[in-house]
Amino acid sequence: MRKKIIAGNWKMNLNLAEAEDLVKGVASGLQTRNISENLKVIIAPSHPYLFTVNTFIPGSQSHFFHLSAQDCSINKSGAFTGDVAASMLKNVGCDFTLVGHSERRKYQKESNEELVEKVKQAFDNNLKVIFCCGETIEERKAEKHFEVIENQLETVFSELEGNLENFVIAYEPVWAIGTGETATPQQAQEVHKFIRGLLSNKFGNKVAEEMSILYGGSCKPTNASDLFAQADIDGGLIGGASLKAESFLGIIDAMLNEIA
Ligand code: 13P
Repeated sequence: MRKKIIAGNWKMNLNLAEAEDLVKGVASGLQTRNISENLKVIIAPSHPYLFTVNTFIPGSQSHFFHLSAQDCSINKSGAFTGDVAASMLKNVGCDFTLVGHSERRKYQKESNEELVEKVKQAFDNNLKVIFCCGETIEERKAEKHFEVIENQLETVFSELEGNLENFVIAYEPVWAIGTGETATPQQAQEVHKFIRGLLSNKFGNKVAEEMSILYGGSCKPTNASDLFAQADIDGGLIGGASLKAESFLGIIDAMLNEIA
């Protein structure tokens, strides 16, 4: 069975005390659950909180509960004021980094070519990558979503040889992020299946069948089960609903029920 993943992207939220409370709440909730060997739980706090938050991930959970950054620099080190290198993220306990979130593509104007450099930096520093893709509402209305997603993925696919097991894809339709408007399970499944087809064409069926593809965009405890029941949806990248332990755990429960 493919690895199932529930990842919380905290974005630019919370103060330090709240971040500590949240990781503690998630950890104590996980303590009372029977976590399947096949599930990974990931949280992605803002850079300044990574080190501290990591200290609250119990050693007994570290085989399935992982820390992720929300972004990494395209550069290795040096005079890049404000940037955070992948090696630094690894140093403070990250196992993963997000790359290519639509908010960064939009506000930081990150290009597909830059994102490839970030992926390379991550791999060079033993970080796994959750690579985000997804279309805007205009692109979907113009029925260009498959084309857009293929374009976002094809540049990065050329860098994956040797690191295929360290790469996770997150499909996040931009129109569903933070809007309360979730893609229907069928809409999401259609795109996930398409992405798996791209993987199969490029790397063969085995790789395509083994790579986890997550859905993100207004996923919450009430709609998670229907999404996770889809054949090609292997988990979620959760924004708003990951900011409260209870709702994040509710989404984890939806996945645990699906796996059981
Ligand atoms: P929301 O769950 O708040 O829609 O955010 C999704 C997202 O962008 C996760 O990366």
